Amino acid sequence: MVHGMPDFPLSSRRLNVDHVSKLEQLMPQTSFEEIATDFLLANPEESAYFLDSNHLRVRVGLFRDQFMPEDKNAFPAYAVKANSNEHVLRILNEEGINHFDCATPTEIRMMNGINQKSINFYNNPLKRNCDIVDAAHMGVKHFTVQTHDEIQKVFMSTYGLIKPEDLEIAVRLQTLNNAAAINLSTKFGASVPEVTSMFEHIRSLGMVPGISVHTGSQNSDPKTFHTAIEKMMDVIKREGRVNTLNVGGGIPVNYCGDREYDIGYYIQVINESLRGIIGEIFDNDSYKLIIEPGRSMVADSIKLVVPVLSREKRGYMDSIYIHDGIFGSFNPADTPNVEAAFKVLRQEGNQIIEVPMDDLQKFEVFGCSCDSADKLPNKMLPKDVKAGDFILHETAGAYTSACRSDFNGYSEHSWVIY
Ligand SMILES: Cc1ncc(COP(=O)(O)O)c(C=O)c1O
Repeated sequence: MVHGMPDFPLSSRRLNVDHVSKLEQLMPQTSFEEIATDFLLANPEESAYFLDSNHLRVRVGLFRDQFMPEDKNAFPAYAVKANSNEHVLRILNEEGINHFDCATPTEIRMMNGINQKSINFYNNPLKRNCDIVDAAHMGVKHFTVQTHDEIQKVFMSTYGLIKPEDLEIAVRLQTLNNAAAINLSTKFGASVPEVTSMFEHIRSLGMVPGISVHTGSQNSDPKTFHTAIEKMMDVIKREGRVNTLNVGGGIPVNYCGDREYDIGYYIQVINESLRGIIGEIFDNDSYKLIIEPGRSMVADSIKLVVPVLSREKRGYMDSIYIHDGIFGSFNPADTPNVEAAFKVLRQEGNQIIEVPMDDLQKFEVFGCSCDSADKLPNKMLPKDVKAGDFILHETAGAYTSACRSDFNGYSEHSWVIY
């Protein structure tokens, strides 16, 4: 599709439409324009995620090849929560990612289903005893904690299943999240004195301590990684060397187009911070040095297309209603710097065109559920947007499909993988 008038012919291929079950199409590599044209002409009322597998492979390669390339013990562990679509996980596996940051036994089971040899970290600091047991039965040996209670829970729940000396317990250290769109430190992480006493506790039970941070999701300042690494180093200097060090996720994605983030630059800053101290961190040769990208690994490989269901005038405002919402792909919808930029696609004859973004006005955007809270932030959209058009969100891979609920009986969107 093109801006304004279309300039390429409609492909003769047609997707096989199945209106009963959700569509899941694997297509040979082609352009988004071609594939979306085919899909939308055949399925004008269907919402869909379009996964560009080549683009995802390039993203994965960036983390795999550029994070501390000289260190055989350094690797990315993908944060499964960002997007757990099976095709996404299979591509990561094919590209050599075999470590995963999991939040629940369900995610661990999913990863084992993709590759029995995957090494899964149970990094949610808050766990049920039964979930720890479940994870231990699945061979998980790496847990994250942020309280003494949690250390005790992991020790007791794995007793008889895993030898304490084989258990790596990373303590999550609270770090500044001031540059992040999503501050995780309000909920996660322990202070330096707490972490130091937890190291003692872990050692006293015969388990092996590690340390982790998260500088906040969609973190606009690479320097905060340097500060967080220095803070971890302070603890290590006081309390002794560790077996794992995890710099977390947080690398940002270009959502609104008003700021360009460079993933490679972030990795470089992290690498340089680590290189200065690497000889002082670990207590043996089988250590693990981890980066945990979620959002930055997947967001810009997946586009979302959603039909506009209706246009109305409500009071002074023009409003559109779309086939998605805060219980679907847009949760949270209004976090500054994570807010989706929308474009509009339209069917004209047997073409799908991109409506030029030059004659714009403000619209209220409502989701399709019965809840009046289901409202996105206002958007600047072409003045003539109308029912039957499609909203295009080009960086829709992270925390979208993964966060949707079944509220009102809406099911997951279709997936097109090309
Ligand atoms: C422990 C952990 N690691 C990694 C991530 C991924 O963060 P991001 O998606 O910002 O890269 C998260 C996100 O919440 C997390 O909790």
